[in-house]
Amino acid sequence: MAILVDEEKRIFTLHTEHTTYQMKADRYGVLLHLYYGARVPGSMEYLAVQRDRGFSGNIYDAGEDRTYSLDTLPQEYPGSGTGDFRSSALVVRNADGSECCDLRYAGYEIAKGKYGLQGLPAVYASGKEAETLKITLEDRVTKVRVQLLYGVLAAEDMITRSAVITNGGSGQVVVEKAGSACLDLVSGDYDFITFHGRHMMERNFQRTEILHANQVIGSRRGASSSQYNPAVIVAEKNAGEDFGNCYGMVFVYSGNFMCEAEKDQVGNTRVLMGLQNELFHYPLEAGESLTVPETILTFSSRGFGELSRRYHRCIREHIFRGKYKTCSKPILLNSWEAFYMEFTGDKICQLAEEAAELGIDMVVLDDGWFGNRFDDNRALGDWTVNEEKLGCTLGELIQRINGLGVKFGIWIEPEMVNEDSGLYRAHPDWALQIPGRKPVRSRNQLVLDFSRKEVRDHIFDQICAVLDQGNVEYVKWDMNRSLVDLYSAETPAGKIAYDYVLGVYEFAERLLQRYPDILLEGCSGGGGRFDAGMLYYSTQIWCSDNTDPVDRLRIQYGTSFFYPISSMGSHVSAVPNHQTGRVTSLKTRGVAAMSGTFGYELNPAVLSGEEKELVREQIREYRKYEHLIRRGDYYRLTDPFADAYAAWEFVSEDGSEALANVVLQETHANKAVYYLKLKGLKPDALYREEESGRTYYGGALMEAGIPLPDMGEYQACQLHFRLCPV
Ligand code: GLA
Repeated sequence: MAILVDEEKRIFTLHTEHTTYQMKADRYGVLLHLYYGARVPGSMEYLAVQRDRGFSGNIYDAGEDRTYSLDTLPQEYPGSGTGDFRSSALVVRNADGSECCDLRYAGYEIAKGKYGLQGLPAVYASGKEAETLKITLEDRVTKVRVQLLYGVLAAEDMITRSAVITNGGSGQVVVEKAGSACLDLVSGDYDFITFHGRHMMERNFQRTEILHANQVIGSRRGASSSQYNPAVIVAEKNAGEDFGNCYGMVFVYSGNFMCEAEKDQVGNTRVLMGLQNELFHYPLEAGESLTVPETILTFSSRGFGELSRRYHRCIREHIFRGKYKTCSKPILLNSWEAFYMEFTGDKICQLAEEAAELGIDMVVLDDGWFGNRFDDNRALGDWTVNEEKLGCTLGELIQRINGLGVKFGIWIEPEMVNEDSGLYRAHPDWALQIPGRKPVRSRNQLVLDFSRKEVRDHIFDQICAVLDQGNVEYVKWDMNRSLVDLYSAETPAGKIAYDYVLGVYEFAERLLQRYPDILLEGCSGGGGRFDAGMLYYSTQIWCSDNTDPVDRLRIQYGTSFFYPISSMGSHVSAVPNHQTGRVTSLKTRGVAAMSGTFGYELNPAVLSGEEKELVREQIREYRKYEHLIRRGDYYRLTDPFADAYAAWEFVSEDGSEALANVVLQETHANKAVYYLKLKGLKPDALYREEESGRTYYGGALMEAGIPLPDMGEYQACQLHFRLCPV
């Protein structure tokens, strides 16, 4: 049993293989958080110390006991207006205008398997793999109820949390803030590790001390964003890649979010993950509910590496769905950096001919194939094939491509509309904009009101009419701007940000139901909506519009802290690189792209015969290593933000095979020899390095390392090790 309940003491204990999570409904019915950390037996009640803190308030039930204050006690889901002056998990404006929500224990349930969430992505698991605990809290005056949901995946060392807020009273209430998970840690000094960025430079690692200040990251952009990723690590001061205690919090959501970290007046640390409270005022009529997206929590006593490998496994096994959860993926050639919008059907067929010759499986027709889309100022919303531009129907084009033995994929951006489009002219109110104001344009486009079903239905039908024209085996779903003018003809303004995301999920789910074998790749100006929510629908997401392999080392490093390598859309592109102007070898571009989905984004016609041979070789290599990249354990060997060498490694689950990847980011004359230390090998087993044929003990490779060859700037190498037969 992963969930233990001491009925008498009202203590709830969640055990995973290596961790324990414990809480208690105390004598006043307040749900206290007692402990989360390495697995321990017994009651941890003694940790919730009560002291008289002078001017901290005391709940009325405590009578004259001045030591009982919610201002300092660790709580599981702190409401507001209760005398806890730290950040709240839940803020509700009641029917009478007051903002108090005093949540007290009202019961629990245990169920086999993992709970699901209505309309939202969530970790899924069978009755053998998971158990669910539901704890109900209630404000006894307003009858606002919160059902806290806990999913325990014992073997994965994962605990998921979510909350369903219900208006059990008779008047309307407005949810002003809704957290998904609160982590109150009573002792210790922690760092807050977050991943910030911008378009083309996503998910940079940042580590700051959690101080006596509320440190907040989040998004108000409508999507999870390039600027802050909805996933954080809370680490003890001495925790690093391979050692030390750390907690992970991954929000399974693709819209506005907020994560706060604060050390309170007496040294407790509170970390809250949940929905962004700006642009959010969610009305609930009597009987209505709001489901807060879930957070996947883990605790690792062996540093960030172990934490990442757990998230990778959890997402691969319990978030990914459909054929490509396990199936090998096609290597694709995308037309974007090859032609941008300057193409004809013949040019796309030439790409397919080149692809066939090189051993590439699929050609993807990116932006520019529909309506009047000759540049990025027009035609979004008009999802009809421009047959004049293609010189044929889409069906004919796909047949020609398939005839070459090459699969076909296509780009769409269903959530968007240009003012210069038939759709906008017919339905201007379908775009988010505030009456009487001019909307904010971005890439000269507006956002469709995906909170409205009729808008989604219309776009869905148009997209299906395109996909039904031929054998489409891949769809790249793009989203190239943020949401600004939150006003809808139908949806109350305070609901739009959330309902929009539900609309996106509903659309994605419908697409998957109708085309279960299509490989879906998410995208948002590159990696602007790279989150565990989207990974529930698309097993891969374009990691960044920056295809420079050297910049990609950092982008992919940051992404690797939570998301599986197989989910990172990554392509070999042309040189000089279109984003940075940098020139790197095909080898280096291949090594970087192999730490992802692996594909191409260039016109092979401009490659020399020698380069084409290298591409063929690269594809053979990728296929050879694919099982390691997709299913192997991933180890970060260096920090590309700090070290000259970027190095990472894949190890097969049984430890019999490993692939180390290295790129030199910065060179100097007369360099010292660099000894690369491997990880995850069997110390007493002998491994053979394939290229040199030399053998080494796993222990030697891990403890002393292996000298790297003398490499020049931006050069790359791969070292492939196999266990020697005994
Ligand atoms: C975004 C995507 C690119 C490409 C263009 C097309 O920027 O990230 O990969 O699809 O849109 O307009």
